[in-house]
Amino acid sequence: MTQIIHNAIIYIEDLFRGNAGGHDTAHSLRVYKNAMMIAENEPEADEEIVALAALLHDADDHKLFHTENNENARSFLACNHVPEEKTEQICIAINSVSFSQNRDKRPDTLEGQIVQDADRLDALGAIGIARTFAYGGEHGRPLQESVQHFYDKLLLLKDTMNTETGRQLAEKRHTFLESFMRELLDETRDC
Ligand code: NI
Repeated sequence: MTQIIHNAIIYIEDLFRGNAGGHDTAHSLRVYKNAMMIAENEPEADEEIVALAALLHDADDHKLFHTENNENARSFLACNHVPEEKTEQICIAINSVSFSQNRDKRPDTLEGQIVQDADRLDALGAIGIARTFAYGGEHGRPLQESVQHFYDKLLLLKDTMNTETGRQLAEKRHTFLESFMRELLDETRDC
């Protein structure tokens, strides 16, 4: 691990301290891990941009912070002497992650495509289920409302993947999600 990646992990740990919801350090670390896995099969991608964008992708999440123009990410990158051009590329990748803002839009850069896939993977599979119910509980939602979220969002994610590796990983997690929902429906039928 390079020094700047190490610094970025420490930076987000500080930033997210006290934010135990779905968007926390552990989520960012999983997105980073997913992104690195995808990048391994995308030799054209700039690994440092992918890594930093993955780690910092929620550093300016508007649900948690009142920052504009990637202020937190930019301040970290400036403190770590990342050149202006690279900073812009990292911010472009970060800004292509959000589901609500990019629903049907394929990110323009390969790095953005990888980090978007990596983030969406964390909404799928066992971890996606765990995060959905944790978020629902935190916001006082009945179980049924969290289940609706599977239909509204999670089951659509598989078809939005940009990279081949992302698609393969999503396929496996999607299948697991479907079998979980079948079981859940079965257990709660006629109640
Ligand atoms: Ni995220």
